[in-house]
Amino acid sequence: MTRLIFLGPPGAGKGTQAQALAHAHTIPHVSTGDILRGAVAQQTDLGLKAKAFMDEGELVPDSLMLDLVRDRLSQSDVAEGWLLDGFPRTVNQATFLDQVLNDIRQSCDYVINLDVPDDIIVTRLLNRGRTDDNESVIRHRLEVYREQTAPLIDFYRQRQQLVSVNGNQPVEAVSRDLQQAIQSA
Ligand code: AP5
Ligand code: MG
Repeated sequence: MTRLIFLGPPGAGKGTQAQALAHAHTIPHVSTGDILRGAVAQQTDLGLKAKAFMDEGELVPDSLMLDLVRDRLSQSDVAEGWLLDGFPRTVNQATFLDQVLNDIRQSCDYVINLDVPDDIIVTRLLNRGRTDDNESVIRHRLEVYREQTAPLIDFYRQRQQLVSVNGNQPVEAVSRDLQQAIQSA
């Protein structure tokens, strides 16, 4: 059984690593960014409300995020494990997640922090070219990360759940270090 949270700045490789690990462990990769982009593409009520925040690189308000995550973690396919990518992103979301996991009698095994320097991130994301991957929005996502999400590194470190991995290496090397870190943590 594997339950991991992927933390880390935009473009750190959370999605890339979580997807590979989810495939290897046959457990769902739950990316709040992917869920929101799906909602935007389908023009659902959630998507219509979230789009402007995502386009600006701002966090989507908790009034839209929290129920979404609670509902997703209550579904049967995640009962045996999950890889959470992009949630929590604030201390408030982390506290909420604690409550949800407590309610469904689950706990997170580790929180993976992928470290990548800002200049590498900007280059990676400009090459990818998602709608929120232009230089000013990328830089704003990095600021939002530093102000609102980076405090979670200490939050989880103090609880001895944090595992840091150097994300500034080829994808396969990051995967290898990640596997080793989880096994030896
Ligand atoms: P989200 O989709 O989570 O985006 P993000 O955090 O900005 O991160 P990315 O998906 O851009 O990067 P990643 O770390 O997944 O890296 P990836 O593997 O893709 O969130 C988007 C928006 O949704 C937010 O701005 C917000 O508005 C909203 N949102 C989402 N969750 C929310 C929440 N909880 N609360 C509120 N709002 C929320 O890799 C990036 C690129 O690099 C790819 O091209 C990849 O191929 C490449 N790459 C990956 N690894 C390597 C490597 N080792 N070497 C070289 N290239 C690599
Ligand atoms: Mg991603």
